[in-house]
Amino acid sequence: MRVVVTGGAGRLGRSVVAGLAGHGHEIVSVDLREPLRLALDGVTERQVDLTDAAACDALFAAVRPEAVVHLAGIAVPFAAPERQIFTTNSTIAFTTLQAAIEHGTRRILVASSPTPLGYGSPHGWMPEYLPIDEDHPLRPWNAYALSKQTIENTVATFSRQTGGSVRLGVFRPCFVISPEEWRGAPTQQGHTVRERLDDPGLAAVSLFNYIDARDAADFIDTWIGAADEVPGGSIFYVGAADAMARKPLAELMPLYHPGTEQLAAGLTGTEPAFSITKAERLLGWRPKRSWRSELIDSDESPLS
Ligand SMILES: NC(=O)c1ccc[n+]([C@@H]2O[C@H](COP(=O)([O-])OP(=O)(O)OC[C@H]3O[C@@H](n4cnc5c(N)ncnc54)[C@H](O)[C@@H]3O)[C@@H](O)[C@H]2O)c1
Repeated sequence: MRVVVTGGAGRLGRSVVAGLAGHGHEIVSVDLREPLRLALDGVTERQVDLTDAAACDALFAAVRPEAVVHLAGIAVPFAAPERQIFTTNSTIAFTTLQAAIEHGTRRILVASSPTPLGYGSPHGWMPEYLPIDEDHPLRPWNAYALSKQTIENTVATFSRQTGGSVRLGVFRPCFVISPEEWRGAPTQQGHTVRERLDDPGLAAVSLFNYIDARDAADFIDTWIGAADEVPGGSIFYVGAADAMARKPLAELMPLYHPGTEQLAAGLTGTEPAFSITKAERLLGWRPKRSWRSELIDSDESPLS
């Protein structure tokens, strides 16, 4: 399929572009940044500012992709002024989806985030149950999380508008680890993966979640292939099958999220705080990678 990947030059986008190209798709990687000049078969790169509706429309009129993976946006809470994060992320999602549908795209998958759940709130936050699944209530408290909830509503709106003739979906990637980060490059938050494991407080904020970028790319490829069979507008958590922690979450969660003792007691062994059962059940997708297998030069031993 011909697939446009927006945000293709980003942390997640680079693995998605490479992964989808590796599965035989023809990729047009679109980003605000200068092209990375990737030497990958079947990949072309376009520099486009998706806040520019005319440029976005011209892109889709020229490429007319069969599928779109929308990743572009300001990807870190508080990385820019709050209003800028909200308007940029909400606007480029709407503009991209509208142009893609107008020019015949029939499969569109959009990146949201687990942050609309509301964890990290300065006034406290408690999960209603663990592990968290796609039915858990959302309580965003900052512009980034609100923009992601808005993007999910945008997807739902276009899904209703197109009545199933366009297959739309949402995935909520957990904390993305790209291949170079296993080898020591800084993660999205500036620290290394090893530092994240050494200081559980770093991963505790996002409930110890993570996903290997290549596993996320495999999820996206699976969704594109199965989009016709998945209920329109479906939302999926996309996370690793274990937690980014050396100790069980039954022990760690109550330390960093007081009051979760009883809820966390049900998480056994290396089990993460996010359920990926829906993606397994509807798509047959399962992550292949864990920090235990990917951390390079690791002397880590699996939890017994
Ligand atoms: N990295 C994570 O841990 C994580 C977790 C949950 C959700 N997400 C979401 O996944 C997506 C990708 O995240 P990432 O970590 O790769 O982020 P990233 O910042 O590395 O990549 C985002 C890309 O979007 C591009 N972009 C921004 N504004 C643009 C515009 N106006 N026009 C065109 N391109 C523009 C940026 O140049 C960048 O290359 C984002 O939507 C993010 O919110 C990421």
